[in-house]
Amino acid sequence: MSKVELNETLRVISERHAVKKYETGFQMPEEDLQTILKAASEAPSAWNLQHWRFLVIESEADKQKLLPVAYNQIQTAESSLTIAVLGDLEANRNTVIFDQAVEAGLLKSEIRDAMVGQINGAYQSPQAARDSAIMNASLAAQNIMLAAKSLGYDTCPMVGFSPEKLIQEFNIPDRFLPVMLITVGKAKEPARPSGRLPLSETVVRGGF
Ligand SMILES: Cc1cc2nc3c(=O)[nH]c(=O)nc-3n(C[C@H](O)[C@H](O)[C@H](O)COP(=O)(O)O)c2cc1C
Repeated sequence: MSKVELNETLRVISERHAVKKYETGFQMPEEDLQTILKAASEAPSAWNLQHWRFLVIESEADKQKLLPVAYNQIQTAESSLTIAVLGDLEANRNTVIFDQAVEAGLLKSEIRDAMVGQINGAYQSPQAARDSAIMNASLAAQNIMLAAKSLGYDTCPMVGFSPEKLIQEFNIPDRFLPVMLITVGKAKEPARPSGRLPLSETVVRGGF
C-alpha cells in the first residue's frame, strides 16, 4: 500500500460523492453537527473576513418548507439536515476580527487601519462583494462535505433551488446571498458513479 492510500485526508476526498438517498429519520448527534460547523468555519477566507453564515435546516416542518424551494429534490426531506451556506455581501463589516488581533498585541493598529481602508475600498464594488461572498463561502462548503464524510456521513451539494424562495421562507436578511445547499445524513444508497476528466485535459503546466 502506498503512502497516499494510507492518507486519511486523501481517502476522504476521494470517497466523497454526491449522495441523494438517505436513511430517513436518522437524527445526527449535536456533537457531530458542531464538529462539521467548526470545520466549516476553519476554511480560509480573503483577509480572514469569514464571508459565511450557515443556516441549519433540520426540523420536519422546515424540511417540508425547503422541499419545494429545492424543486422537490427529495434529499432535502430524507437527509438528517440541510446546511444552507450563505455568503456575506457585507463581509467588510467583519473587520472586528482585526481588533481582537490588535488587542492581543498580534497586529499593529496602523496596519489594522490600513487594511480596513483597503477592504472598505474593495467593497465599493458590488460585483467584488458578490464574487468574494461566493468564493469564500464555497471553501467553507467544501469543508462541510469533507468533515461530514470523515465522520461517516454523506452529503449532496445543491444549487438546484430558488434563492428568492429560500430567502423568503427562511427570512434571510439582504446581507446574505444563498450560495449552496448541502444535505447531510447517513447514506441509504451510494452516489451514482461520476467520472472525472483526465488530468491531461484539466492541467496546463507553464502556460497555455
Ligand atoms: C455547486 C454544485 C451544485 C450542485 N447542484 C446539485 C443539485 O442541485 N442537485 C443534485 O442532485 N446534485 C447537485 N450537485 C452534485 C453534482 O451533480 C455532483 O457533485 C457531480 O455530478 C460529481 O459527482 P460526485 O460529487 O458524486 O463526485 C451539485 C454539485 C455542485 C458542486
